[in-house]
Amino acid sequence: MPNSPEFPVIRPRRLRRTAALRRLVAETRVHPSDLVLPVFVKEGLNEPVEIASMPGVFQHSVDSVRKLAVEAARAGLGGLMPFGIPAVRDAIGSAATDPNGILNVVTRAIREEVGDDLVVIPDLCLDEFTDHGHCGVLRPDGTVDNDASLVRYAEMGVSLAEAGADLLGASGMMDGQIGYVRAALDEAGHTDTGLLAYAAKYASAFYGPFRDAVESQLQGDRRTYQQDNANVTEALHEIDLDIQQGADIVMVKPALPYLDIVKAAAERSPVPVAAYHISGEYAQIVAASERGWIDRDAAILESLTSIKRAGAGVIATYAAMEAAALLR
Ligand code: PBG
Repeated sequence: MPNSPEFPVIRPRRLRRTAALRRLVAETRVHPSDLVLPVFVKEGLNEPVEIASMPGVFQHSVDSVRKLAVEAARAGLGGLMPFGIPAVRDAIGSAATDPNGILNVVTRAIREEVGDDLVVIPDLCLDEFTDHGHCGVLRPDGTVDNDASLVRYAEMGVSLAEAGADLLGASGMMDGQIGYVRAALDEAGHTDTGLLAYAAKYASAFYGPFRDAVESQLQGDRRTYQQDNANVTEALHEIDLDIQQGADIVMVKPALPYLDIVKAAAERSPVPVAAYHISGEYAQIVAASERGWIDRDAAILESLTSIKRAGAGVIATYAAMEAAALLR
C-alpha cells in the first residue's frame, strides 16, 4: 500500500508538521525594527483620548507621546511617524511652519526623549493644518495650487528638519515635491535630513478613520492629487520620478489592497521600499476581532508578513507596538 504508485513520494506537508519545522523554513520574518508607529498628537491635550474609529489608538498629549516614544524604543521599533493636530487652522496651514507649532514641538520632544534610538519621521503635509483640509493651498476657484503648495512644503520641511526629523514623510502628492523640498533642505544646510516619499499614494476609502484621528475638515476628496486605484503605470511613473528627485525611501499606501504595487516597487527601486498599513486596514481587523469574527493577533501578524513578503522592508502600522510584543 505505501509504495503503491497512486501515493505521493514528494510530500510538502512534511515541512509543515511542527511549529519548529515551519519556523525553520519560513522565508519572511517581520522584525520589530521593520515597524514604524504613526502617532497623533493634539495641541492643548492633557490626557490621551482614544480615537473612536481606531480602538487602541490615541490622540496624545506632548507628555504622553514622550512616554510612548520611550516604550517604542524599548520595544525595538524602527521609528515613529508623528502627525500633529493644531489648535488653530487657516488657509495656508500657518501652524505647520511655526517653530512652536504642534508638529515641530512634538518632533523636538521625541528627539529629546529617545536621541537616535528611533527614526523620527514627521508627516510633511499641510492637510492637518489647513482649515479646508486639503494637502496644499487653494486657488481662488478652490482647486489645489501645486506650485504654491511646494513653497509651503519647502518651508515646512526646513522647520521640521530644524526640529530634529531624521526623515520627512512627504505625503502631499504634489508634482515635484521631492525635488523641491530636497533643494530647500540642502540650501538650508540640512543635507542629512532624508525624504520618505509617499511615492504611490492612492485616493482610498480606507483613510476614513485617519480623518477622524486628525479631525479633518476636508469636504469632498483628494482625487485631483492622489492616484486612481485602477492604475499601475502611473504608480511606477511616480516612483521613478521620486527616485530621480532624490527620495531616500519610497512608500506605497495603502498596503494590503496594493500589494501588486509594493511588489512592482520592490522590483524596480534602488532605494528601500516602505508600505503604510493604514487606518482603515487596522480598523477592519479591530472591528472584526471585537465581534469575535477573526483572531486579532493572527490577523495582524498575517497582514504584516504579507506586506513584507510583497517587498516592503519598512512597514508603517498602528499595530507596531502589539506586533512587536507578539514577535518577542
Ligand atoms: C496626509 C496623510 C493621510 C494619511 C497619512 N498622511 C490622509 C490622507 O491622505 O487623507 C492616512 C493614513 C491612514 O489612513 O492611516 N497627511
